[in-house]
Formats: sequence, C-alpha cells, structure tokens
Amino acid sequence: MTTRVIKNISELTTNDPSLGVGVTGRLHDAAIVIDDDRVLWVGPNAESPAADEMIDVHDSAVIPGFVDSHTHLVFAGERSEEFEARMNGTPYDGGGISSTVASTRAASSNELRAATEKRLGELRAGGVTTVEIKSGYALTLDGESRLIDIANEFSDEVTFLGAHVVPPEYVNDREAYVDLVRGPMLETCAPKSKWADVFCDRGAFDVDESRAILTAAKSAGLQLRVHGNQLGATGGVALAVELDAASVDHCTYLSDDDIDWLRASKTVATLLPGADFSTRADYSSARRLRDRGAVVALATDCNPGTSYVTSMAFVLSIAVRDMRMDFDDALWSATRGGAAALRRDDVGHLGIGARADVVILDAPRAAHLAYRPGASIVRQVIGAA
Ligand code: NIG
Ligand code: FE
Repeated sequence: MTTRVIKNISELTTNDPSLGVGVTGRLHDAAIVIDDDRVLWVGPNAESPAADEMIDVHDSAVIPGFVDSHTHLVFAGERSEEFEARMNGTPYDGGGISSTVASTRAASSNELRAATEKRLGELRAGGVTTVEIKSGYALTLDGESRLIDIANEFSDEVTFLGAHVVPPEYVNDREAYVDLVRGPMLETCAPKSKWADVFCDRGAFDVDESRAILTAAKSAGLQLRVHGNQLGATGGVALAVELDAASVDHCTYLSDDDIDWLRASKTVATLLPGADFSTRADYSSARRLRDRGAVVALATDCNPGTSYVTSMAFVLSIAVRDMRMDFDDALWSATRGGAAALRRDDVGHLGIGARADVVILDAPRAAHLAYRPGASIVRQVIGAA
C-alpha cells in the first residue's frame, strides 16, 4: 500500500461529516494524506506528515470526488432533433423514451458497453468518482437484465428501472406490464441490482402503479429511489417519503407539504438542473428546500432525452446562477448530498477514513467550477469511478 501526501492546497473542501448538512469544512493552506483506498490524515500544510510519495499542487483547490447519484448511462442512439424541437417550443412529455428503447434494443452488448464507458470517461474527467447507473431503455425481461449486467461492469450502484415507461407493445394493457415488472422482471433483475426506481409521473406510472412496483422491489431486498414531480405535482414525493426511498429525483414541482414531508424524512431531494435546462422547465426550488431544512443532492441525470450532460461543473453553474444556491451549498449537494442520496457514508467527503476520492483543480478556489462555465478545470482525479 503506497501512501501519498498532497501538499500546498490553497483551499481544501473536506465536507467533514461531523460538521453537518451543507457545511463544507474548508481548510486553507492545507495538506491531505491518502493511501490507495482511504484518507489517513487532513490538516495544515506545515504539519503534514511524510509519505511514500508527494504531490505538490502549488496553491490549487482540492475537493472530494463528485457523487453523481442519478444517471442513465447505458443506452444507444441520440435525440438531438427532439432537443431542437423542444428549444423551439415542443414540450417534453417522455414520449421520446420509446425512440431510445428501440435503438437500445437493437444495439449489441459491445456497442452498449463502449458507449457507457465513453460517457463514464467524460464524467470521470470532470471529477466524478462515484456514479449510479440505471437500466430502463430495454423494457423487456431479457433486455433489462442485459442493461443491468452492463451497468454492473462499471458501478456498484446499479438501479433497476423496468418501470421507466410502459413500452409500445403494452400500451393497451398497462396492467400486464406492471405485473411483468413487479413479477418476473424483478425476480431476474433484483439479485444483481442494489436499487429500484420508478418514473412516477404524467405519461409514465401513476402513484398506485408505482407503489405496487416499489413495494414488490422492497420485498425483493432492493432499496428504493423515485423519479417524481418532474412534469407535474403528481404525488411522487409523497410516495417516496411513504416508502422511505433514499431519494426522490427531479422535484421540479414541489408544494410546501412536499418539502415538509421531505424534511421530516430520510429521503433526499435530488435536483437535476441539466434536465430542467434541456427541457426548458422551471428550475427546482433548491432554496426553498434548503431554507426549510430538507437535504438536497445535485446530479447530472445523464440520458439522451432530457439531459445529455456529463459535466458536474455545468450542473454547479446552473445551480448557483439560476437556482440561486450558494456555491458551498451546491458543491456539498454534488458530493456529500449525492452520497446521502445513495445512503453512503464513505464517499462525498474527505474526513479520515473516507474513500480516497480526491479531485485536484486547476484553480485556487473551488468556486471556479461555477465561475468559469464551459472551462475544464479538473486537473487530476484520484480514486474510483
Ligand atoms: O430522468 N424522467 C424520466 N427519465 C429520464 C428521461 C428519459 C428520456 O427522456 O429518455 C429523466 O429525465
Ligand atoms: Fe432520470
């Protein structure tokens, strides 16, 4: 096991968990010591212990690796024409998902693997060291099982999303599709997934259908997450809280009751600014959530329909500029918040014992991530992804 000391850090964001929600635990003129797996020491530069190797970052900022808790990385094809039409006024209604389902079903496993690896490479180059990956673009038993196998090659945080939409061949028999998802499809996919997710919204699954699928998934040993309140106030948040889902994602439409329920629960509100940007939706009320005490995560939602985004820095820029989050809050939400949304204590922070997922920036302050939109200021990424 090799130890490394990273020295001359102008600004070190630790997110030390003992400091609480939203607190970045910033140190200036700092150093950090890691081994191949874990953080061993954090403190003032002048007091840093010796190690086998030394990295001198010459007054650059260092942050924990981003935790991208919501992606749909395994897909084929693209939908730029749909994006262009949307920019010219056509609203998003989820209908385009069937086009990605057709391309994904037609793709070979090697094509899907290569496409996933490429997108993951983009995420990692931008500082992501933990990524959740969903299925959801096959919507047949064998197809979902294949996407989950591929996702497992790249992440431990794999989510079964058989309930993305009702596929074309079941439009006249939704009930049969719900039964397939909560029955045989779940039975095949649960043993190789950690999470189950449902798109509980207009044009996808209603609250009763979503509850039926999620409760079956819970009985099969999966932990839960929900796509909710993206296209309307459709009850997804309340359902996620009722079922103790780790996270409810999108939250574009939120009532005061929704926020109160979230605050009183362990369910994280995961906001996806890339999706609001690319669908020309109103941005989620990040400030209302934070001001009322709910825990917020930020993620890319990388997918070909609503958010073909692989840059967490871009997500931070929107969160700060358009959602009016404080930069520190946004950075915490994209790291420690993402970890909370995955119920993980070992990532998203650089406290002693945390996983050694460290991102060295080409900037003196982490705020450059939002301040310099479009520039790639990630110099070095240490750790998994
Ligand atoms: O998170 N909302 C549901 N699922 C994806 C979009 C899927 C698609 O349009 O391909 C999302 O926004
Ligand atoms: Fe999504």
